[in-house]
This record gives sequence, structure tokens and C-alpha cells, in this order.
Amino acid sequence: MNPTKSASVGNSETPAGARRDTLSIVDNRTGRQYEIPVKNDTIRPIDLRQIKVHESDFGMMSYDPAFANTASCASKITYIDGDKGILRYRGYSIEELAEKSSYPETAYLILHGELPTSEQLKEWNYHITHHTFIHESIKKFLDGFHYDAHPMGMLISTIAALSTFYPDAKDIFNPDSRRKQTYRLIGKMPTVAAFAYRHCLGMPFVYPDNDLSYCGNFLNMLFRTTELQYRPNPTLERALDVLFILHADHEQNCSSTAMRGVGSSHVDPYSATAAATAALYGPLHGGANEAVLRMLVEIGSVNNVPAYVKSVKAGEKLLMGFGHRVYKNYDPRAKIVKRVAYEVFDVMGRNPLIDIALECERIALEDEYFVSRRLYPNVDFYTGLIYQSMGFPVTMFPVLFAIPRTSGWIAQWQEMLLDHEQKISRPRQVYLGYDLRSYVPLDHRS
Ligand code: SDX
Repeated sequence: MNPTKSASVGNSETPAGARRDTLSIVDNRTGRQYEIPVKNDTIRPIDLRQIKVHESDFGMMSYDPAFANTASCASKITYIDGDKGILRYRGYSIEELAEKSSYPETAYLILHGELPTSEQLKEWNYHITHHTFIHESIKKFLDGFHYDAHPMGMLISTIAALSTFYPDAKDIFNPDSRRKQTYRLIGKMPTVAAFAYRHCLGMPFVYPDNDLSYCGNFLNMLFRTTELQYRPNPTLERALDVLFILHADHEQNCSSTAMRGVGSSHVDPYSATAAATAALYGPLHGGANEAVLRMLVEIGSVNNVPAYVKSVKAGEKLLMGFGHRVYKNYDPRAKIVKRVAYEVFDVMGRNPLIDIALECERIALEDEYFVSRRLYPNVDFYTGLIYQSMGFPVTMFPVLFAIPRTSGWIAQWQEMLLDHEQKISRPRQVYLGYDLRSYVPLDHRS
């Protein structure tokens, strides 16, 4: 369990001397005192509304742009301790899962809350495998994109289009329907991603091979050419499996927040997943792995790193792949990615950009600018080097993030739907605009 203090809500009638789980607030504008309940080390901002200067006031709110210190939900899926560099899915450490689990098994854990029995895993793999095909009409949809369309744009729009093929997905409170859409989304994401990639190359689509693993089949749909059956390289297949485990969920990140927010309007899960994928596309989020590679290519050589770092410290650029809202220590995933990188390089040859990346990391970990801001490599810093070595174009990197994160998004969406405290997301605002003013006729405007 999270080591955050969880306590029953205290009250001012608690016996003298006993600890009261409340916050005593004095409003110095009026001298009034308020007792605000504390639970799980949090207060409910709605309890601040009683704080007013005048009876007619709306009452106090909390103001937290970008939710820097606001819990939007209660969750049991993923636990992160940013100071200690801890990441756990349903209580299991990312290090153990990356070493001992597979992505399908980890996806099952994230979605169901427990590791599957062998029978449950067999059934789970069966259903995912038998939902990898997509409707033939979607090929026509994909053919409409330019050859140089960004695969994330293709993925986002195609996931949204899937909602038109499965109208039963609107039945969001029917567990059987949610289960079916879960199979479809997890099963079809690699297919849509691979078809988008093949479209950009002008190569024929490769259909799923149900005899291969989840990652082996994905590699098959991406890279098969004329061989009768594609045989994935086991090192690359396992590397992708580990990377998918690392990317499966990450609690209330930007894209999960989008999934929960859009899903809270009770739209179908395909439309919500399209919104989450769009959020992930941004270079500050999942698009960072693509931005890292472009940055390393721009730097060009180890000798140019100091000049680039200087421009970062001057506030002209970001050191992509560094920093994190939660991790103020080394992202535990980045450590594992770095190890996987060398395993891939052993098969595919050393990626020369690794030397530039290592020099960026060496300088950043010593330089006061980065140390004072607690900027460490995050999950995106080294992944791009692996993907490039595996033969992926940089535009596919965020797609490779979206595929495994689909299981996390669905788990977050389902937890939101079943949480009786949740309802449609509708934040308030601090209004700083004009007060009432009258319309000005066109010929009277300066
Ligand atoms: C992911 O949330 C998640 O969990 C996301 C993720 C997941 O699994 O879902 O972990 C995946 O998105 C990882 C992050 C990938 N993004 C990048 O690598 C892009 C580069 N990083 C930055 O954009 C930034 O670090 C963020 C967006 C990741 C975090 O931003 P914050 O928490 O809002 O931090 P901030 O912008 O307030 O920065 C604090 C200071 C600022 O300097 P000052 O204004 O105090 O002088 O640190 C500086 C920032 O300018 N800073 C950086 C920097 N990141 C922050 N300076 C240079 N390079 C950077 N990368």
C-alpha cells in the first residue's frame, strides 16, 4: 500500500489530547477558524468552499495549474515514489516485472489487479491473439493518408474510427462489452501501428500471424517481406517485450488524465483512447523519444555536447529525455532501458548516437543547472536509440509508446468508470477577465 498516511476523518470532538485528522485554518481576512478533514494526507477542496468573507461569496477554491499538487483520483493501479525512483504495477516492482514477466502478463496484471494463473493467461493470450485483425475497410482509410503522414496522426484517427465499427462499445457499464473492447484495443493497436508503418513505406500490409507472440507478431507485421513465415529475432522480440512492460502504465500522466477526462463524459473507449493517444503524441510526453533522437542527430558529435548544453542552460532549448514531473531521481525505467539497449546493440550493432547520449547524461548529472532542478534521464532518453537500432524510423517511436500504454489507459478508464466518487470532469476557473461591458457598434470601434 502507498505509505501515505491513511486515517479515518477526525473531528474537533475527538477526546482532548488525541490526534485530530483535521487542518485548522484561520482566515485572517475575517478571523474565523475552520476545521478541514484530512484523509490520506489530502484535503478535499470542496471543504474550502465554506471559507468566505461575505455570505454571498462563492467560497474558496484551490488553484493548481497543471495539477502540480492535486490528486484527481484515488487509484490502486500504479505507485510511483519520485524521490526514491520507485515504480510498481499493482504492488509488483518494475524491475521484477521487466525481468520475469511478459507484456501480455503485465497487461493482465494492470487490468485485473492480480497476476494471471496459467489458465487465465492462456485464455487472455487467446482472446488478444484472436482480435488482432482489423476490418478490411480500415485499409482503405489508411490508404487515404499521404506516404509521409506521421504514423501517430494515422494511429489517432484510426483508433477513433474503430468506434464506428464497434457501436456496442458504447455499452460502457456492461463488463462483457468492456472486456471485448479491451481485447480489441490491445489486440488491434499493433496491427494498426504496423499497417501505418507499411503504408509509409509503400509496402503491402502483413496480416497477423497467430502462431507468434504479441511482440513477435508485431515484428512480423512490420518487417516480414517474402518469407513464408516470419521468424522474429528472439533478442529483439524480448527487448520489445521488456520495453512494452516498462511503458504499460504510469499513473496519472498527461495521457491517462486525458483518458479519464474524456472517458468521464461516458464516450466509448475507442474515442477516449484516441484522445489519450493524441495527448501522448506531444514532445513533452510520449513524443519525447522522437525528440531525443532528433536532438542527438542535431548535436551530431560528442564534441558538440557542451555547446548544446550551454544553449539548454541559456533557456533556449530543452534537453529532451530529461526531467519529469514526478521523478526527481533517476527514472527506474531508464536504467532498465539502458541495459536493454546494449543487448540490442549486440545483435544489431552499436548505435553511434549512444556516445552522444552518454556524454549528455555525464554532463547533466554533474552540472548544477540540472542537479539543482533534479533533472535526470527519463524513460524516453534511451528508448529511441534502441528503436532506431531495431530499424524503426523516428516517427514510429511515439507509436511504440502508445501500443503498450493502451493497457494502462484502459485500466485507468475502467477504474474511473467504477469509482463511485467520480463523475464528469468539469474543473472550475479563476476568472480574471472583463466585468460586464456593453456592445460597441462597428463604426464606434477604434
Ligand atoms: C513522459 O508524467 C509521466 O509519468 C510521463 C511519462 C509516462 O510514463 O507517462 O513518464 C512519460 O512523458 C516522460 C517525460 C518526457 N518528456 C521529456 O523528456 C521532455 C523534456 N522534459 C521537460 O519538458 C520536463 O522535464 C517535463 C515536461 C517532463 C516535466 O516538466 P515539469 O515537471 O512541468 O517541470 P518544469 O517544466 O516546471 O521544469 C522545472 C525546471 C524549469 O526550469 P526553471 O523555470 O525552474 O528555471 O526545470 C527545467 C524547466 O525549464 N527543465 C528543463 C527540462 N525539464 C525541465 N530544462 C532543460 N531540459 C529539460 N528537459
